[in-house]
Amino acid sequence: MNLVSELLAPPVTKADPQADPLICHCFRVTESAIKRAIHVFQAVEVEAVMEITQAGGGCRACHCRIDRLIEGKPAECGRLCQLLGQCSHQAAAQSPAAIRMTA
Ligand code: FES
Repeated sequence: MNLVSELLAPPVTKADPQADPLICHCFRVTESAIKRAIHVFQAVEVEAVMEITQAGGGCRACHCRIDRLIEGKPAECGRLCQLLGQCSHQAAAQSPAAIRMTA
């Protein structure tokens, strides 16, 4: 195990998905791994977190959650944030067809 893997590895505890939810489902990256990338490697952009953890490198649906963690906010913003149009990453992740269907 190299240094990066050791720093990003989850603590050895009983698995509890509620305590450490998946943020990136494509690459199965947890909230704690992303928070460690932010703190240990001083990642201040989604792209930096992606380079370190691979989170966000697939469908991009998690970019909003990663951005919120970088800003020190809870990962999940909830439906109100989406309705108010504050989730620019989620809107960008939607295909033009999906945006037309919801408009
Ligand atoms: S859920 Fe993170 S890239 Fe798809």
